[in-house]
Amino acid sequence: MVSELGVGDASHKHFFGELTLGLSSSTMRIYLDNAATSWPKPDAVYAAVDRYQREIGIAAGRGGYNDAIEAQRIVEAARREIAALIGAPNPSHIIHGCNGTDSLNLAIHGTLRPGDHVVASVTDHNSVLRPLADATRLRDVTVTYVGCNGQGLIDPDDVRRAIRPETRIVIATHASNVTGAIQPLAEIAAVTKSADKLLMVDASQSAGHVDIDVTALQADLLAASGHKGLLGPAATGFLFIRDGVEKLVHPIRQGGTGFESQLDRMPDELPTRYEAGSLNGPGLAGLVEAVRYLRQRTITAVCAHEQMLVERLWNGLAALGTVRLYGPPPSPLRGPVVSFSVEGYDPQEFSAALDAARGIQARAGLHCAPRMHQALGTFDSGGLVRMSVGWATTVEEIDEVLAVATAVATA
Ligand SMILES: Cc1ncc(COP(=O)(O)O)c(C=O)c1O
Repeated sequence: MVSELGVGDASHKHFFGELTLGLSSSTMRIYLDNAATSWPKPDAVYAAVDRYQREIGIAAGRGGYNDAIEAQRIVEAARREIAALIGAPNPSHIIHGCNGTDSLNLAIHGTLRPGDHVVASVTDHNSVLRPLADATRLRDVTVTYVGCNGQGLIDPDDVRRAIRPETRIVIATHASNVTGAIQPLAEIAAVTKSADKLLMVDASQSAGHVDIDVTALQADLLAASGHKGLLGPAATGFLFIRDGVEKLVHPIRQGGTGFESQLDRMPDELPTRYEAGSLNGPGLAGLVEAVRYLRQRTITAVCAHEQMLVERLWNGLAALGTVRLYGPPPSPLRGPVVSFSVEGYDPQEFSAALDAARGIQARAGLHCAPRMHQALGTFDSGGLVRMSVGWATTVEEIDEVLAVATAVATA
């Protein structure tokens, strides 16, 4: 199926139409793990990475010669594209990191001080839960985990009740990587701001799937992966820091910045204050093109395509009768992940059977979100099977997945 999303570009034809080219077995797969990392990427992303490696190949910000300036230009273009995508007024407040986890570590470890309290939730990923657990062990930080309803949605009133005078940050995972639930972020932001606390958003699963406006939200810190819904290469991610909030965020990674080398500490200016060491030039070159691609196509169009697939997948699985689905039913208010259990099957066993039958790549287990599975009651049974669709997933693939899932579930 060729949609208006540009799904017919060369990389995609490769994937669906020209399997007789002697391509590796990976091209025979049906990839449904876009929540881990998106695949394929738009052609322009591959081309930009390749060009950077072959023609530039320079460490950005580490020299005054022409190619070094070009490398720096690309790094700054990535900042500008991301800032425009999320409504950030100042691109220098977009900090490039290695992935969503890295950006969340900076936000959490950089901000928390001994004695602080944090409001988090059971929907959070280990990239939030583990830094917080570490802070509770080593820095006398306390955390309140707000619960969720059966669909994985948080009640902003629970956030309000959890805030204390010593609360430093309220953390909201915008979209769950297990249930797809998109939290009522505007309401959580309003509660947080009226209590005069910092709002930190984990947008790793929402960026590229849902419109985000950090200015309207008054988000203080927003971290996201570049390689998931944003369609960028591996090992990309960013942290947005609101103007003025940098005074509260310690640069937890220290090292070379390419200038002000006489200082024995990180320079004060953003983004350099937080970007020690050589940046991922090829990855950022790809990310520039990825975000441009999304901005040209509009996230609303990408989201409509993904939602159509989610609905088809959800309804098809529900029709099996032996499948239990989790999270909110299909609607534009959920992310493109469908998680489920199958009667009589261990989740790992079921996803292995799908892979063996037709190279269907779905992720089973706890999805790095143990508290979410505890809340859903799926922790002790080994979690769930998760299928996550993406911009390039087709209706034909979903129909094939449903046919194979039916055969496996009824075998
Ligand atoms: C909700 C959520 N937050 C953070 C992360 C971490 O992102 P990354 O894989 O870019 O480190 C993930 C990854 O799956 C996630 O689902």
